[in-house]
This record gives sequence, C-alpha cells and structure tokens, in this order.
Amino acid sequence: MLLNKKIAFVTGGSRGIGAAIVRRLAADGAVVVFTYAASEERALALVAEVAAAGGNVQAVHADNADAPALSAAIAACAEQHGRIDILVNNAGILIRGADASVADFDRIVGVNVRGVFVASQAAVQHMGRGGRVITIGSVNGDRAGFEGAALYSMTKSAVAGLMRGMARDLGPRGITANTVQPGPVETEIVSEEATKAFLRTIIPVGRMGQDSEIADFVAFLAGPQAAFINGAALTIDGGYLA
Ligand SMILES: NC(=O)c1ccc[n+]([C@@H]2O[C@H](COP(=O)([O-])OP(=O)(O)OC[C@H]3O[C@@H](n4cnc5c(N)ncnc54)[C@H](OP(=O)(O)O)[C@@H]3O)[C@@H](O)[C@H]2O)c1
Repeated sequence: MLLNKKIAFVTGGSRGIGAAIVRRLAADGAVVVFTYAASEERALALVAEVAAAGGNVQAVHADNADAPALSAAIAACAEQHGRIDILVNNAGILIRGADASVADFDRIVGVNVRGVFVASQAAVQHMGRGGRVITIGSVNGDRAGFEGAALYSMTKSAVAGLMRGMARDLGPRGITANTVQPGPVETEIVSEEATKAFLRTIIPVGRMGQDSEIADFVAFLAGPQAAFINGAALTIDGGYLA
C-alpha cells in the first residue's frame, strides 16, 4: 500500500490504460478521482468494481478539451480531499491520416496537449512536496512509426517537452514531472485485428503490451521510490523502438 491515502487525479479513466491505472492506484491505497468524456456507463461500472474491492474511486465528466470543465474537476477534487498528490494525464485520442484537416489538428491538440497543460497547471496548485505529474505520451513521440502518424506523433512529442520544462520548474518544490511512453498496448485505440497481428511480428517480445503493465509502471513512478526520476521520457514497449 505504497500510495495509502494519496489523492490521485487521472484523466480518461473510463477505459483502456486509464482504467488500469485507476484500478492499480486504488489497489495501492490511493483515493482516485478520474474523468471520462463519452463512456459514462463504463466509468460508473469501474467505480462500482473498485468499490466492491474496497477501493475509493470517483468518476467525473470532463472533456479534456474543455479547459473550464477540466480545471473545475481538479479544483473540486482538491477542495473535497484537501490536496492532490498525483496527476496522471492519460486521456488521449488518435487521429490518423496523411490528409488531416485543421479541425483534426485543433481536436487532437485540444485533447492530447492543451488538456495536459490545463490539468497540470490546475493540479500543481494543490500539490506539495512528493507531488507527481505523470503524462502518458507514446513511443510515437520519438518515432512516427506508422503512416499518417504526423498529428498524433506531434502531440506526444509536445507533452514530453512540456513535462521536461515542468520538471525543471517544479523540481525545487519537490514535485516531479515525467512522461511514460508506451509502445503498442492492447486497447480499443488500435482496433483492427490485422494491425495488431502485424505489430506482434515487429515487437521483439512477440506481443503487444497489457494495460496493467503500463499501470504498474505508473504506480512505481507515483510512489516514494521514484523521487529522483524527474523530467524523463520513459519508454515501455517490449523493445519496439530498440
Ligand atoms: N494503446 C496504445 O497502444 C497506446 C500506446 C501509446 C500511448 N497510448 C496513450 O495512452 C493513453 C490511453 O490510451 P488507450 O490506449 O487506453 O486508449 P483508449 O482505449 O481509446 O481509451 C482512451 C481513454 O481516454 C478517454 N478520453 C478520450 N478522449 C477524451 C476526452 N476528450 N476527454 C476525456 N477523456 C477522454 C476515454 O474516455 P471516454 O471513452 O469516456 O471518452 C478513455 O478512457 C492515450 O493518451 C494514448 O495516446 C496508447
């Protein structure tokens, strides 16, 4: 229970990697507030599942692209629980295509970058020493990796840069800021079976990652043993980029 009584805020916790992070932080003793946008039923089912296992989790509707809603959700969490110890910026979308439009640009930047900035700025106001800002980037922040990846790749490079800058600014306050860069993980963000089959052939360990493996890594970063990890972009990809 390394995170006992820590207050964690996770964006996009209704499904996939975010849901695994919510489960894992709650299992480690944290009180977790998470956001969802479209998947209300699944968010409520996750709250019930974690509560049944003895965890303390709340779901809040807040689109990551809606800055006032996201800031308000974070302020409400801090007001209710007195502080925020851990922010996990997980919410993210993939818009793929070489012929992306300006509207696509605005949408993906709004969710994947602007939302990370807004949530981070809001959460650190309520963080003390030992605070953690953890952003889920991607290996695509370092390598585009597939056709039509330009916008997605750009957003994941951007958040790694944002975390590096925040690490410098927040380090003196005892708060760390890091990016976790997963390789391909089995979630709904990649749904085509043919793509998954191909990915398995090019990942050295012969499989895609599991959402729980990313959650385990996030839990370690959130804990006391990771206090000297700051400003890092940490790849977890089964050797995909090696
Ligand atoms: N899976 C991979 O291979 C992989 C690899 C590297 C990085 N990542 C990153 O990991 C993170 C999670 O991805 P995933 O694979 O778990 O994707 P996913 O299965 O599609 O789940 C995405 C999550 O983000 C939430 N979300 C999406 N748009 C949102 C918005 N506008 N506002 C609030 N929440 C929003 C979704 O909630 P609702 O359904 O409620 O909207 C859902 O909980 C993303 O940042 C992604 O870029 C994934």
